[in-house]
Amino acid sequence: MAQVKMKNVVKQFGEKVVLDNINIDIADKELVVFVGPSGCGKSTAMRCVAGLEEVTSGIVYIDENVVNTVPAKDRDIAMVFQNYALYPHMNVRDNIGFGLKARKILADKDDPKAVPRKLQAEEIEDKVQRAAEILKIPDLLERKPKELSGGQQQRVAMGRAIVREPKVFLMDEPLSNLDAKLRAHMRTELKRLQIELGVTTIYVTHDQAEAMTLGDRIACMNDGIFQQIGTPEDVYDKPVNKFVAGFIGSPSMNFIQGRLDGGKFVTSAFNLELPEAIITKVLKNTTDPDNLILGIRPEDIEDREFDLNPSPANTVSVKVMVRENYGSDIFLAVEADTIDFHARVNTGTKARVDTTVELVFDMSRIHIFDGTTEKNLTI
Ligand SMILES: Nc1ncnc2c1ncn2[C@@H]1O[C@H](COP(=O)(O)OP(=O)(O)OP(=O)(O)O)[C@@H](O)[C@H]1O
Ligand SMILES: [Mg+2]
Repeated sequence: MAQVKMKNVVKQFGEKVVLDNINIDIADKELVVFVGPSGCGKSTAMRCVAGLEEVTSGIVYIDENVVNTVPAKDRDIAMVFQNYALYPHMNVRDNIGFGLKARKILADKDDPKAVPRKLQAEEIEDKVQRAAEILKIPDLLERKPKELSGGQQQRVAMGRAIVREPKVFLMDEPLSNLDAKLRAHMRTELKRLQIELGVTTIYVTHDQAEAMTLGDRIACMNDGIFQQIGTPEDVYDKPVNKFVAGFIGSPSMNFIQGRLDGGKFVTSAFNLELPEAIITKVLKNTTDPDNLILGIRPEDIEDREFDLNPSPANTVSVKVMVRENYGSDIFLAVEADTIDFHARVNTGTKARVDTTVELVFDMSRIHIFDGTTEKNLTI
């Protein structure tokens, strides 16, 4: 059992506030991803849990215990980093087992007062072998790091973490050295492994796709604050603000400036008819219906010819600026007067660069954000 909890955690480097009062409760066996742009404080937040940084104020718990003053080595965590730095002169077996040699364990689990003892060579060998099997690298144990591929090296680094049988895994961009294909593969492996081992895990990445595919929950961070903590579905479908809406999802959500007028969302180039329920929410949640931002994902805009319920009310005539064929769909960058946005449409589209096409907005999928606070007014 290992829960991790951060309560009102503030971290300053000198005057600079890097973590601005963050709160999170991570359940036993859960995998939570800290995701956000570079410099937002993800690694710092993780390092506070690890004990590599001291918090300026607030409390870090592992299980029910306050660990603020517990040194990193006594927190029963294992970390995996981007630069996993294997020892080049040691083979895989020794790289994995190295950390265990100096490690002391309780001589008698039922008697905490018994003098700790070192692990014996056979015990270490046993653990290394088991980790290698879990990681599917038992045939690589005699090799040196330079004889391994990037993915295999990453597995060895994971092996070092696994053999320690920690309460918590802390992983900071562990796959970012790998090429895209291998990264996607290792991501799946890692997820399998985490479920199999059932170890509570914090995983740091700036890659939203990685966050979406790996996380039981995602903690989406910006400017030292958790903007939203939720399941991948939550943050994707119900982003609490414009930052989360724009950060999660690729290509990004479109944002279009406008105002509410009667039942319509009015922009400088076109009008869209808003569903009743949306109007009610917007009016209830903002004091400034003249300053709004409409958000819609590219996949929620379709070529009119392929739309299931085209209606003139939510159709916009646009000029095609860029057309990219992704095989499964076609990505269009389009312009309506001074407003530009993106759409992912059916591959049958007749849209070509410099021609005009009619696009339909799926109004059941839009979000409206307050122009000033950028809060989502429609969830
Ligand atoms: N030891 C330090 N002293 C001073 N400032 C620091 C220190 N460590 C981090 N920072 C600053 O704190 C902020 C957050 O850094 P952090 O490493 O947590 O970001 P990050 O979200 O992990 O970014 P990245 O995706 O680039 O790794 C940055 O502005 C960084 O410059
Ligand atoms: Mg970082």
